[in-house]
Amino acid sequence: MSASARTICRLDALEDPGSSAFTLGSGPWPLRGFLVRRGDDVFAYVNRCPHAGHPLNMRPHEFLTPDRAWILCNSHGAIFEIAGGRCVAGPCVGRALTAIEVVVRDGWVVLGEDPDALIARHA
Ligand code: FES
Repeated sequence: MSASARTICRLDALEDPGSSAFTLGSGPWPLRGFLVRRGDDVFAYVNRCPHAGHPLNMRPHEFLTPDRAWILCNSHGAIFEIAGGRCVAGPCVGRALTAIEVVVRDGWVVLGEDPDALIARHA
């Protein structure tokens, strides 16, 4: 399969476990998201914390705790599950990151829906 408008990256381009930021769309307000790989599973979320709406990362592509077991918001320390994005510690316990559907197909990480629809909903 070749890259398409729905393709984000190759699975093997992601560290395991690891995370990577991506953007969809152009202009001043693209949809900013991030991927987290754990084994053959990949999860994607909008890069906006449910606590105060800040981006989660301070450094490019760094969204995980040092042990890479959880997603970390660097603003106020909220901790989220990698699978599902539910906050388990910090100021927004019980709330969740906004998930973006992705699938791994033929070694590529691919959006589960049309990127323009995602951008219209989340950017
Ligand atoms: S903005 Fe993420 S914990 Fe406050």
